[in-house]
Amino acid sequence: MEAVKPSGAGADLPPPRPPGARFVPALPTLWPQMLTASARGAPAFPFEAPGARFYYFGRNAVWTLARILRLDQGEVLAPAYHHGVEIEALVDAGASVRFYGVGPKMQVEPDEVARLITPRTRALYFIHYLGFPGPARELRTLADAHGLPLVEDCALALLSRDGDRPLGTFGDAAVFSIYKTLPVPNGGVLVLSGSRPQGLPTPPEPPMLSTLSHLASALLQNLELRAGALGRLLRQAVRGLGKLTVSTAKIERVATGTQHFNRAHADLGMSALTRRIALAQDFASIVERRRRNFFLLLGHLRDVAPPVFAELPPGVCPLFYPLRVEDKAGVQSRLAARGIETVDFWRYGHPACLPGEFPDVDALRRTILEVPIHQDLTPAAMTALAEAVRDAVKR
Ligand SMILES: Cc1ncc(COP(=O)(O)O)c(C=O)c1O
Repeated sequence: MEAVKPSGAGADLPPPRPPGARFVPALPTLWPQMLTASARGAPAFPFEAPGARFYYFGRNAVWTLARILRLDQGEVLAPAYHHGVEIEALVDAGASVRFYGVGPKMQVEPDEVARLITPRTRALYFIHYLGFPGPARELRTLADAHGLPLVEDCALALLSRDGDRPLGTFGDAAVFSIYKTLPVPNGGVLVLSGSRPQGLPTPPEPPMLSTLSHLASALLQNLELRAGALGRLLRQAVRGLGKLTVSTAKIERVATGTQHFNRAHADLGMSALTRRIALAQDFASIVERRRRNFFLLLGHLRDVAPPVFAELPPGVCPLFYPLRVEDKAGVQSRLAARGIETVDFWRYGHPACLPGEFPDVDALRRTILEVPIHQDLTPAAMTALAEAVRDAVKR
């Protein structure tokens, strides 16, 4: 998930922004008090799930799962609309992947999945896009009818529910990515339903200095979010220093949010700091704020861009607002010039899924820009953001 940084990031002196333009980071930032806060009551799903294993990335969970399920023995049915790294992890573990289509509203037709099942099929894999539930019940029934394991990819759907039921509890296995929703330095989860993952070794802690380096950049983002222009200058200065330290001290920084699976990091675990920060979060309030912000954008942007999801069903914890725009690059750079980070959502898929085979998916890849709606953004910030997006789209 690569965000376009506001213009000037990385330059020595950032160019001025239009008056009043505030920094809007793509992901939630780390507030200093989160470092000392203690855990809130019993941890919620998936953190408390008996069959949970915690990794550095969600992709590690996909790779481990593919090996547990012996997917190298056959084919996995997976959606043509995907990030690419989850498919890389499956392929690296020896699986062959066969793709099914995804419609213009990111919907999957279970009948189409059913038609692709053959004696070679070893598992059904599906993704809950941006926290919105996929057809979990129908795919569960289909998987059961064929005696196949169902894999739920919840990388974009932490804390999200289908009504009362948490996403990730429909499949035989589920995969999560924590750092997309929570301000943590790393973290992915593998949940195996109904059983402890017996025999799976506990993944080792990642290098502490790498974790600290991610932590520092999330704190700096928070500084810029709160302190505006002054915070921005401070962040630039400290970042320069940080980069120098990382390179001179030869710190191995295991980057998150990258596009590729790296076997060398496949066994790396989640850091203890991630667990601590994650469990101190107020999950109910995060879900509520994200829903409020999504609603606000839906109301403000309906008339400039037809929404992908016209409603927000109960329980959904949205990850981003998917903005559908023909001039994705232009809108993205106009927003970046105003300090607003957005994500060019899944512009390219895995090379095994050829462009042209699934025209609806090609259109999604060409047009969907992710606009932030995360828990750090206040209603006032969201109103300003909505205005900026309207301007950027109309130009
Ligand atoms: C659908 C999907 N699955 C799995 C992953 C892997 O998550 P992680 O970045 O934690 O490895 C991603 C990453 O963006 C994703 O979008």
